[in-house]
Amino acid sequence: MKIIKSIKEMQSLALSFRRGGKRIAFVPTMGFLHDGHASLLREGRCLGDLLMLSIFVNPIQFGQNEDLDRYPRDMERDCSIAAECGVDILFNPDAEEMYPQGFQTGVTVREISLPLCGASRPGHFDGVATVVTKLFNIVQPDVALFGCKDYQQLAVIRRMTADLSLPVEIVGMPIIREADGLAMSSRNAYLSPTERKSALCLFRAITRARNLYAAGERSVEVLLDETKAVIELEPSVRIEYVEFRDGTTLKDLKVADNGTLLALAVKIGQTRLIDNTVLGEEL
Ligand code: PAF
Repeated sequence: MKIIKSIKEMQSLALSFRRGGKRIAFVPTMGFLHDGHASLLREGRCLGDLLMLSIFVNPIQFGQNEDLDRYPRDMERDCSIAAECGVDILFNPDAEEMYPQGFQTGVTVREISLPLCGASRPGHFDGVATVVTKLFNIVQPDVALFGCKDYQQLAVIRRMTADLSLPVEIVGMPIIREADGLAMSSRNAYLSPTERKSALCLFRAITRARNLYAAGERSVEVLLDETKAVIELEPSVRIEYVEFRDGTTLKDLKVADNGTLLALAVKIGQTRLIDNTVLGEEL
């Protein structure tokens, strides 16, 4: 596996692969890789002749009081997971390489960035859209893979790719969960054992909503009350949002249907966790 830190080197290598007719699969990440990332890499390995991974903790998608400085990092472990998953090239630029002095351009995807995480993390999706556009221009992928755990992020990237006619196929991959249902996330590393237990209320809430829906409940008001009630049984968990929305447009709705998104964000101590499920689809 080759590690590249320079944009110029990465871009010229990617362009030469493409001229040689090679199909590039790309998995952008912020590192601290877990089984969720590994599932993206394994699928990427099947979808491309060359598998590229980026590890870059993108400062412009973090708010002022967020966890940029303490975001978990373990480059050595990441390299061994990447090599195991068959990554050909790891692009690992530093912040000065990506955002040199004078950098002042941004990509904004308007409506779909506003609700849910966009409401509690203003500017977050501008940072994501900007870095993903830049990474696409550098890595020149034919296909890029993202996890459905960051459902709104995936929706924003799909919208942006379509709106800007970017020649990249976007693939969303299912959420990978621990045996007890906790969705895998690099941020789970922050949780104490007690907080880790409390975090399971997210999966219990999702299961409650799915069971009610399967039993025929369609009223968003009822589903919402029941879902929130499960989380409220955990006194240490603070709800940031629990919302049912259209799975494509993310617009709010009153009646649930197949394809309706249930999205949740909570804070446990200092740690912010998100999870989601799409009604009528497999868990
Ligand atoms: O999901 C992530 O890890 C990041 O938001 C991404 C897509 C790599 C952009 O920094």
